[in-house]
Amino acid sequence: MSIEPAIIIKDLRKEFLLSTSGANSLKTALLWWRRRKKVHLDVLKGISFEVNKGECVAVVGRNGAGKSTLLALMARVYKQTSGTIEIRGRLAPLLELGAGFHDDLTGLENIYFNAIILGLTREQVRERIDKIVEFSELGEHVHSPTRTFSSGMIARLGFSIAVHVDADILLVDEVLAVGDFEFEKKCYAKIDEFRAKGGTILVVSHNPTAVKRIADRCVWLHKGHIKMIGKPEDVIPVYESTSMTVD
Ligand SMILES: Nc1ncnc2c1ncn2[C@@H]1O[C@H](COP(=O)(O)OP(=O)(O)O)[C@@H](O)[C@H]1O
Ligand SMILES: [Mg+2]
Repeated sequence: MSIEPAIIIKDLRKEFLLSTSGANSLKTALLWWRRRKKVHLDVLKGISFEVNKGECVAVVGRNGAGKSTLLALMARVYKQTSGTIEIRGRLAPLLELGAGFHDDLTGLENIYFNAIILGLTREQVRERIDKIVEFSELGEHVHSPTRTFSSGMIARLGFSIAVHVDADILLVDEVLAVGDFEFEKKCYAKIDEFRAKGGTILVVSHNPTAVKRIADRCVWLHKGHIKMIGKPEDVIPVYESTSMTVD
């Protein structure tokens, strides 16, 4: 089988602009307004890598490394400061908890809303709705607004939608960890099934055992740079041995 890229990321940079305030009175607020300056936060400092079709790549790194920002850029939630992201195929992003859900809509309404945004027709959603609800294990709760859902329920629903929309590429940001053990197992089985059909996955995970099991390659992100990229069995031990030390 020839190697074809599904995701090509070149020199990707993302900088957030923050306004510093700290004003607690009108006077300081006015002074601040005159002297305000923008603080630049370089979250991704020029990263490049590719994910091939059918490959599963895991992104690891400490909190604040820029993992979620990377996935959000790929899902077009944010726009990059510079650099390019090329996605070849249809993407189903499963970002941070509840992203994409409307709190006041019921679980069922959110399924329609999200699946249609992800490219299904109303008819296709109708055909799959039972499967989506069944996999999510929400039962009767699916008729309640998602604001009443626990984080586990939100994760189950989000995952179930993402794996039932026939995407070519799945982006998964840590959400699997909030479900219970049984559900996590079920998700990994579904991921195996998705891969067997040739699907491509980019997953952020804090579970080294899972990374070693499912990922072909591992990208270690550290303070906005790629510190190491390679086979999980090479990257994870180094990552684990240094993640305890302060740098
Ligand atoms: N919308 C935003 N505005 C400003 N700063 C942000 C925003 N999103 C993330 N950041 C900052 O970017 C850095 C990386 O965050 P994130 O990508 O969530 O890291 P990770 O997922 O690896 O923990 C953090 O310092 C975070 O505070
Ligand atoms: Mg994150």
